Amino acid sequence: MIIAPSILSANFARLGEDIHTVVSAGAEWVHIDVMDGIFVPNITIGPVVVKDIRAVTDAFLDCHLMIAEPERYIESFAKAGADGITVHAEATHHLHRALGMIRERGLKAGVSVNPATPLEALPYCLDLIDLILIMTVNPGFGGQSFIHAVTPKIKQAARLIDGRGIILQVDGGVDMNNITMLRDLGVTSVVAGSSIFGSQDPACMVKELIKRADTQVC
Ligand code: DX5
Ligand code: ZN
Repeated sequence: MIIAPSILSANFARLGEDIHTVVSAGAEWVHIDVMDGIFVPNITIGPVVVKDIRAVTDAFLDCHLMIAEPERYIESFAKAGADGITVHAEATHHLHRALGMIRERGLKAGVSVNPATPLEALPYCLDLIDLILIMTVNPGFGGQSFIHAVTPKIKQAARLIDGRGIILQVDGGVDMNNITMLRDLGVTSVVAGSSIFGSQDPACMVKELIKRADTQVC
């Protein structure tokens, strides 16, 4: 299970330190939520911040683009040092092209779907997909509750992947109480923001999430 702490819930005034804390605790990825105020009702960070993050960590930079027409910014995020770029299926008229653009730059290509969006388009792009991100909250903000109605779609995505080696990621409302359940559904990466950075001890929480993801329940 790849744990990807979302820096959306970190303290932006000490971002480098917060990233160091979670990476030192065992998080392999850093999840970067990019929002444009159009696709989602919030504005966050752009490629200049990714460039500075790149300079302070070797961790995999998992850039989740919650922006309209993401193909306009793929080149900028690739140049800034992203390792993976995930685009929303709802945000582009040309999902196949956008995924190809990410792959052409040597990055992992991800596709995300909002809670109410079906997986309809994905079978036609599977050969270009490295990661499927199922949103379990409506994107835009950290600290929301996990939407349980999305669980059947997680199972459906696991069936679609069918041993292909595509990462199945879940984002939104993930904490130590649901990570084992997600693992059992076939999820191979979780994004966690407020449950990590909102806790008393973020390093301890990363370790707890890793432990629970590894725990075998008979
Ligand atoms: C939501 C973002 C998430 C967010 C998750 O739009 O894509 O990555 O940071 O936050 P939590 O873990 O607090 O639900
Ligand atoms: Zn995210």
